[in-house]
Amino acid sequence: MKIPFLILALLVSVGLIGLAQAVPPGLSVEFAPEDEGVVTFSGTSHYEAGMRCSSCHMSVFDVSRSARISFGDHRSDQFCFGCHDGEKAFGVRRNCGNCHEGG
Ligand code: HEC
Ligand code: HEC
Ligand code: HEC
Repeated sequence: MKIPFLILALLVSVGLIGLAQAVPPGLSVEFAPEDEGVVTFSGTSHYEAGMRCSSCHMSVFDVSRSARISFGDHRSDQFCFGCHDGEKAFGVRRNCGNCHEGG
């Protein structure tokens, strides 16, 4: 079943959809690449940095666990790296460990 995003956001905001969801404040999404440390994306820290749902959905990320992020994307303006460019937010160079566990 595909739930339209606005309805989903509403359900999340009134608490009908709970912990299964990932990114609203308090929740997180984990990425586990095969050849690099786990990345934990925190909804809370992005909320506190002033982001709202529309900062990422539907422009940067779908509301699903479907993103396929490659190492090549790290040098593009796709996914995380549209913001994590060293200006809007910390960039990739020398900051592997900010995102990747043990990196
Ligand atoms: C802003 C956060 C962020 C930073 C900084 C970052 N990465 Fe990543 N990286 C990710 C995410 C998210 C993925 C996707 C993981 C997945 O989908 O399994 C990823 C995936 C990878 C992958 C796996 C790609 C694949 O095809 O499986 C490698 C290798 C990698 N990163 C290396 C690095 C290195 C080296 C650095 C530092 C130079 C770095 N990353 C910095 C977020 C980041
Ligand atoms: C800074 C970026 C960002 C913001 C802001 C953001 N999200 Fe997300 N959201 C993500 C990422 C990254 C994913 C995982 C995407 C993927 O794996 O393809 C995600 C996934 C989701 C999912 C699917 C989770 C799952 O496990 O299936 C939902 C639901 C969601 N977001 C709702 C929201 C709502 C509601 C808001 C506003 C309160 C919000 N998001 C704000 C980045 C963001
Ligand atoms: C819409 C812009 C935007 C997107 C997209 C985005 N971020 Fe961020 N992120 C920020 C800002 C702004 C901050 C706070 C400033 C800083 O730390 O440089 C931040 C902070 C962080 C932090 C430090 C705080 C913490 O949670 O430990 C991490 C780690 C991080 N982001 C990872 C990611 C990953 C991984 C992705 C992709 C899955 C991502 N971000 C996508 C804007 C974004």
